[in-house]
Amino acid sequence: MGDILDIFKARKSVNSYTDEPVTREEIDKVLTAGKYGPSGMNKQPVIAIAVTDPDMIAKLRKMNQDVMGMYERDPFYGAPCVIAVLANKESFTRVYDGSIAIGYMLLEAFSLGLGARWIHRCKEEFETEAGKEILKSLGIEGEYEGIGHVILGHAAGELHPDFEKKEDFAYYID
Ligand SMILES: Cc1cc2nc3c(=O)[nH]c(=O)nc-3n(C[C@H](O)[C@H](O)[C@H](O)COP(=O)(O)O)c2cc1C
Repeated sequence: MGDILDIFKARKSVNSYTDEPVTREEIDKVLTAGKYGPSGMNKQPVIAIAVTDPDMIAKLRKMNQDVMGMYERDPFYGAPCVIAVLANKESFTRVYDGSIAIGYMLLEAFSLGLGARWIHRCKEEFETEAGKEILKSLGIEGEYEGIGHVILGHAAGELHPDFEKKEDFAYYID
């Protein structure tokens, strides 16, 4: 098993995408990465909905903008795929479980050469009747909390320059 630290260090969030679609195979790999994340008591409460249908992306975009009350810019940066990650409310670790699933997905996307970014406000989106209707239309039963979105696509141009990572992260008690 190789050390994947370099992948972790090189990953960057992308906020500009080309029109090139993401293949189903790539999407499946990203979803699988999320599925293989750990979860509290192994309850596996996380689900992920990969949306490539432009009309549905537009619907989610509007819902996301409604939460912000800002309509000037696209919160999904024009990415051709938006993955909504939710977790069953029966699990009290759902936010952590969903968050690490998103982390895994971001890393898998990067390792596939795709651009990706975590986008917020999934919770509020899926608290609306329209959000609940989307789950119902997929036959998803039970109460789910939106954790976050992963937007996915091909990065347009270079990744933004490295952010400096803060110094005061690691402490040691030897
Ligand atoms: C919980 C969380 C919420 C985020 N929400 C947004 C968002 O709504 N819009 C956005 O453009 N980026 C969002 N991001 C991406 C961050 O802005 C990005 O990770 C941060 O600037 C660090 O950049 P890096 O991912 O390239 O290290 C979010 C990231 C996290 C972890």
